[in-house]
Amino acid sequence: MTKTRWLVAGTALFAAAVAAQAEEKADPKKDAMKYRQAAMTLIGANFKPMGAMVKGDAPFNAQEFARRSKDVAAISSIDLLAAFPQDSDGTGSKAKPEIWMKWDDFKKKMGDMERETAKLAEVSKGGDMAAVKKQFGETGKTCKSCHDDYKE
Ligand code: HEC
Repeated sequence: MTKTRWLVAGTALFAAAVAAQAEEKADPKKDAMKYRQAAMTLIGANFKPMGAMVKGDAPFNAQEFARRSKDVAAISSIDLLAAFPQDSDGTGSKAKPEIWMKWDDFKKKMGDMERETAKLAEVSKGGDMAAVKKQFGETGKTCKSCHDDYKE
């Protein structure tokens, strides 16, 4: 190959690589899905061991419980609604299309979680087991209430 041909071939390859990269990136709905699943995974990964402590399946560690509830509240306070762009259900997602048909209700349920997780973080600081248990129950209801209607 001549020098020019090498150059042309190289440029074509580079252009193809750039195009492939752009194609991979230009999927805002998929990105949003990954983002919200990551947030939910973090919330769930903390919520589960908290549930085990509340139920008595694991010894109650007040310090750990308080740390986890603070993290759950922090993650719940991010703008998760922004991670549900219109019609971003489909492959890989367990989000139901009802989310966008009943957006106001979905929004309200997101707000319920934010409020109750914040309360849980607050109550957890006190170390009053009965109050912690009660508030954990209230918080769990907000997860279930949304999942029942909007998650497959
Ligand atoms: C306002 C609605 C709503 C609330 C409140 C909510 N979730 Fe979710 N959650 C969803 C939806 C929708 C999905 C499915 C997302 C997807 O797959 O695109 C989901 C997915 C999940 C997942 C699976 C994540 C994955 O990787 O697929 C976990 C775990 C989870 N939620 C935990 C919780 C916990 C714990 C709470 C309460 C503290 C909670 N969620 C509150 C709507 C909600």
